[in-house]
Amino acid sequence: MRRILTLAVTAAAFAAVPALADEAAVGRPPNPKTGEEVYRVVCQACHMADGKGAVGAGTFPALAGNPRLASPVYPIVMVEKGKGGMPYFSDSLTPEQVAAVVNYIRTSFGNTYPGTVTADQVKPFATPPAGSRR
Ligand code: HEC
Repeated sequence: MRRILTLAVTAAAFAAVPALADEAAVGRPPNPKTGEEVYRVVCQACHMADGKGAVGAGTFPALAGNPRLASPVYPIVMVEKGKGGMPYFSDSLTPEQVAAVVNYIRTSFGNTYPGTVTADQVKPFATPPAGSRR
């Protein structure tokens, strides 16, 4: 009995290895889809779970109560082109993911900005910033 249990545990451990390796390879769970998922995986480390930003090793502006999010274009451009310590994501997120996360930050953390962004509205901005070398 004990031997069968050991085998089962060993098999389970082996089965888990490729899944872990895949995740480590991309450094994030595969393909976040909803705005909340994208935020959690990509943005939260800097802008914090509550969207209030942080001051420490750098200054990460709050998205909560941020009047610049009133215009949907501003956050789209910021996410696609980056600025200073804010990386650009035009080469790593799809227009669908960018639209989803922009909609998420404009309607979360107490924000209630109207209007829903579509992937088609994001596409014109979905190229890396001029002069980028990645
Ligand atoms: C590596 C840290 C980092 C990550 C990851 C990051 N940001 Fe930022 N973000 C910054 C910094 C720093 C700024 C300030 C840039 C500046 O104004 O110079 C910023 C600015 C912004 C702004 C503009 C705020 C303002 O008041 O001008 C928005 C909107 C924003 N980020 C959204 C996002 C979203 C959405 C994501 C995820 C897709 C994200 N950020 C990921 C660091 C980060």
